[in-house]
Amino acid sequence: MTSEVCLLNDPEAVGLRAASIFRGRSEIAVASKGRFSVAVSGGSTPLRLYEILGSTLRNDIPWDRTEIFWADERCVPPGHEDSNYKGVYDALLSRIDIPAENIHRIKGEMSSEEGASEYEEELKRYFVNSGSYAFDLVILGLGVDGHTASLFPESTALSEKERFAVPVYVEKLRSWRITLTIPALNNSSSILFMVTGVKKAVIVKEILGDGGNRQKYPAGLISPVSGGVTWLIDREASSELDVAALEDLGILKDTGY
Ligand code: 6PG
Repeated sequence: MTSEVCLLNDPEAVGLRAASIFRGRSEIAVASKGRFSVAVSGGSTPLRLYEILGSTLRNDIPWDRTEIFWADERCVPPGHEDSNYKGVYDALLSRIDIPAENIHRIKGEMSSEEGASEYEEELKRYFVNSGSYAFDLVILGLGVDGHTASLFPESTALSEKERFAVPVYVEKLRSWRITLTIPALNNSSSILFMVTGVKKAVIVKEILGDGGNRQKYPAGLISPVSGGVTWLIDREASSELDVAALEDLGILKDTGY
């Protein structure tokens, strides 16, 4: 795995850089194999990315060759305010010209087990047809407890080795979700973490600092077998990081501030 960290000024800079990476990855994937597969996340941090893709860059991405999947979904109907599909639909999908069959949403309105099984089948169909079990890009967020997608600390989902998608009950949220598993994520060609805000400073230090704590957190287990991870972190979220140590490790790609 290759790893790089970009320290950027604010959430806007993180959104813009993510959009530029999204565009670059889509160009490379379409040029090499004619299609671009991306799994997107919920939460608030990537919403600005989706807005930029749906406005400034709406004519710059080959949407007809882009296949959109989700890293996770809350078990609610697609029109629900908590739906990750709805977040992406409102900011992006409703504003671009993309064939309906390119949108592979997780059916949050089904029972978590049924929704996960159906998504697993959808993923397998796509992977078998495309001849590769890897997403070209996965956009991930980071929770203050170290969760990513809907892989929470101490969840049984963390030990899943076979399936690509599983149902998970999140005790502290008292709700069911469906999530991609560690093997599905670690098969990806590239992973992009987007992290902003001072509330994330401690967990960012835990995962990227030199204390060796990363394995304690689901986000720290993301390590693509033959791909790369890029962290886009704003000034506030990186305020606890030892920047010199990252430089020594050779993983600091740039400091935009
Ligand atoms: C979700 C996510 C989740 C999210 C983090 C960060 O469905 O909520 O996929 O993993 O990315 O909780 O959320 P924020 O961006 O809102 O901080």
